[in-house]
Amino acid sequence: MITLKSEREINLMHEAGKLLAQCHKEIKKMIKPGITTLQIDQFVEKYLADHGATPEQKGYKGYQFATCASLNDEICHGFPTNKPLQNGDIVTIDMVVNLNGALADSAWTHTVGEISEEAKRLIDVTYTALYKGIAQAQVGNRTGDIGHAIQSYVEGENFSVVRDFTGHGIGNTMHEEPTILHYGKPGKGPRLKEGMVITIEPMVNVGTWHAKMDDNGWTARTTDGKLSAQYEHTIAITKNGPVILTEH
Ligand code: MF3
Ligand code: CO
Repeated sequence: MITLKSEREINLMHEAGKLLAQCHKEIKKMIKPGITTLQIDQFVEKYLADHGATPEQKGYKGYQFATCASLNDEICHGFPTNKPLQNGDIVTIDMVVNLNGALADSAWTHTVGEISEEAKRLIDVTYTALYKGIAQAQVGNRTGDIGHAIQSYVEGENFSVVRDFTGHGIGNTMHEEPTILHYGKPGKGPRLKEGMVITIEPMVNVGTWHAKMDDNGWTARTTDGKLSAQYEHTIAITKNGPVILTEH
C-alpha cells in the first residue's frame, strides 16, 4: 500500500531532512586522509543526539551503525571501520535521520584528497543522474519515468546503473511502497500522486552493474572491483513539483 502524507507530515520530514543535510555538510568538512569511517559514524551519533534526533539505521534488522560507509568498489551498506581513509578514496555516507518520528534518508559520495579524473566524472554523473530522476518526480508521471531518465543518462555516459538496490517510499518507516527502480521504461510502474514521499538513490558504477555480497551479509560491492558512487535524496511529490526534503 502506498501511503500519502499530509502537509504536516511532509513538513516534519522536511525538518528531519534539513538536519540530515546539515550533518552531511559537517561530514564533508571532516573528511580527509587519515580519518576513519568509524570516527565519522561516532560524529553522526553525537551530532544527531545534540539536535534531538536519532539514527534510524542503528538496530534496523540488526544493523550496528548509525551510517553506512561504502568505500571505492563498495556499492552500499558498507560498515564503518577503523581503517584510515587514504588520498584518492571515494566514500559514500548514507544515513536515515529520525526527528520526532519523521524520517529522512540521504547519501552523499565524498572525496578524500586528490581523486582520479575517472572518479571525478563518476561522481559528477551520479549526482546529475539523481537530479535527472528528481525532475521526473511529478504528479501524474510513473516510477518508470524516473528510472528511465536515470538509466538513459548514465548509460549515455558509459557508466552502469546498479539493479540490486532501489529507492523506496519513506514516512514513519524507512522502507515503504513504492519501489523506485533506477532503470526502466517510461510510462511503466505506479503513478506518482500528490503526498507521496520517495527516495531516489542511484548507485552508478564505472564498470559492470553486477554486485556481490560480502561475508558480513550486508555490504555489496562491484564484481569487477571498479568504483561505485551514490547520491540520494528524499523527495515529496507535490502539485507544485518535486520538493527535495534533504537538500542543503
Ligand atoms: N539508507 C539506506 C537506504 O537508502 C538503508 C540502509 S540499510 C540499513 O535505503 F540497515 F543500514 F539501515
Ligand atoms: Co534509501
